[in-house]
Amino acid sequence: MICLGIESTAHTFGVGVIDKKKHILANIRKMYVTESGGIIPIAAAKQHEQHADALIKQALADAKLKIQDIDLIAFSQGPGLGPCLRVGMNTAKELHNNYSIPCIGVNHCIAHLEIAKALTKAKDPVLLYTSGANTQVIAFESGKYRVFGETLDNGVGNFIDGIARYLGLGFPGGPKIEEIAKKGKKYIELPYVVKGMDVSFGGLQTNIKHKIDKQEFKIEDLMFSMQETVFAMLLEVAERALFHCEKKELVIGGGVACNKRLQEMCEEMCRENKFRFYCPNRPFLIDNGVMIAWLGINMATKNAKLNEFSIHPYERTDDVDVYWAR
Ligand code: ATP
Ligand code: FE2
Repeated sequence: MICLGIESTAHTFGVGVIDKKKHILANIRKMYVTESGGIIPIAAAKQHEQHADALIKQALADAKLKIQDIDLIAFSQGPGLGPCLRVGMNTAKELHNNYSIPCIGVNHCIAHLEIAKALTKAKDPVLLYTSGANTQVIAFESGKYRVFGETLDNGVGNFIDGIARYLGLGFPGGPKIEEIAKKGKKYIELPYVVKGMDVSFGGLQTNIKHKIDKQEFKIEDLMFSMQETVFAMLLEVAERALFHCEKKELVIGGGVACNKRLQEMCEEMCRENKFRFYCPNRPFLIDNGVMIAWLGINMATKNAKLNEFSIHPYERTDDVDVYWAR
């Protein structure tokens, strides 16, 4: 079975092709970026619309396949931005109408987890999922992917992007902040907000913006301290989830997981506790079509309902019936 996956939950329109034996045949994307300011959902969706056909064509060319060779099309159903999700769904629907290829809608967050499992040696891990819109600690427990901890407000990526925007750095800000933070040396005390198993970034954001306004600290030191603080918050929750669920493996996913300092801290925590740490390569950490395709294959081989064209912008990880994983 060869599946073409379409990712379009937010800023990225991604197309990936993978087969049942995990051969990755194509993985391309076009990302919506800005010089300053954040994502405008309608503008991102418009860009997706403009590039969708060309990206599908290119992915097929990369895979050396014709559209008729594709057995299944998977698309991101949610969670995400409505206008962006609709472009992905409509692209899948058009291919379904024109070529009678079966289609399946999949959950984006679970796709991050399944691809991490597929591409690493992790079998039953805790996933620290850190992206723009989402920050969750997820594990399989009693027949479901359950959320053991999450953000109470912003996703960690959106939080970092918000600070980057405040500094006039444009979108996405995460990689730029990482570079600035590398030059920081002095740790500046910042609010550390872990409430039970959840984290919150709202107060920290206000605090850092005040500090930026007052210009009393070097930006490099402030960004270094911000990363140290928020990553420690995430690690505290992930570590506790590992112990609570009695799991031994940690994987990371989502765009923020590309951050080398976060990876280093995960490694350190796992080494101390004798857990195993797995980190997929960058193209599979950030939003990508391959993870959507891979989840589509998993679901379709277990008699999923096909050809239901709907989007679920607010779908929660623990609401999904993961019959293929049981
Ligand atoms: P989701 O729909 O799963 O919430 P997303 O749409 O935010 O995901 P991702 O590609 O998973 O998309 O993540 C994008 C986020 O990752 C952005 O907030 C970006 O700033 C952040 N990011 C990317 N690289 C880095 C990095 N090196 N350090 C920190 N943050 C990063
Ligand atoms: Fe994502």
